[in-house]
Amino acid sequence: MSYLVATTEADHAALAAELMARAIHAAVRDRGVARIALSGGATPAPAYRRLSEMSLAWDRTEWFWVDERAVPPTSDRSNFRHAVEDLHLASRAAKVFRMEADAVDLEAAARRYEDVLRAAFGVAGAVRFDVLTLGVGADGHTASLFPGTGAVAIDDRLVTLVHPGGDLEPRMTLTAPVLCEAAECLLLCRGAAKRDMVVAAGLQGPEDVIPARLLLRAKGEVTWICDAASAP
Ligand code: 6PG
Repeated sequence: MSYLVATTEADHAALAAELMARAIHAAVRDRGVARIALSGGATPAPAYRRLSEMSLAWDRTEWFWVDERAVPPTSDRSNFRHAVEDLHLASRAAKVFRMEADAVDLEAAARRYEDVLRAAFGVAGAVRFDVLTLGVGADGHTASLFPGTGAVAIDDRLVTLVHPGGDLEPRMTLTAPVLCEAAECLLLCRGAAKRDMVVAAGLQGPEDVIPARLLLRAKGEVTWICDAASAP
């Protein structure tokens, strides 16, 4: 686990975009394809916009989602919508695999996304993303693995539904085994409100209290990209 600290919002975005681009270049060079999974939330948007300006082998990229809210893809709360807009994915020769979290039967849609992943990575192969982005919530959630829901302990499927409670809509999310299998996890954090969770996520303890702790058991590289206010 390593921590990088950017001084300005622009540097934060540039750093995250640069690390994503490097992982994508390396995967395309080594295997001819790069598979990326994206988180939503506000923090990664400037990084995605920055990445969209970079020279990438877009036709060799496959884009998936780490999590999605149960809203239509046209909603302002749709992680899909924001990422597609920020990365200009609609006008690229890239493959895009949306999580259908607006389906009537969400359980079936989660199973379908699992099938999509198996097909993309090869049925016999590990579902190992080249790079994925994550954030952390002030409650310690990462992806849509919310505290107190038991979701972080789910290890018998690749994709699950989570009911975060409160006024949040249900979510579809990759499960902890998929996040832990990724070659590289980039955790994007900004602002003082995140600092306590950045610290707590780096300390062993119950994962259902702070699900972001699951990254302590990640097999790949985990890099926290912070600003000065969120850095431990
Ligand atoms: C989502 C997420 C979620 C996010 C964190 C941080 O759909 O909300 O993917 O896990 O990464 O909640 O969100 P912010 O960047 O908005 O603080």
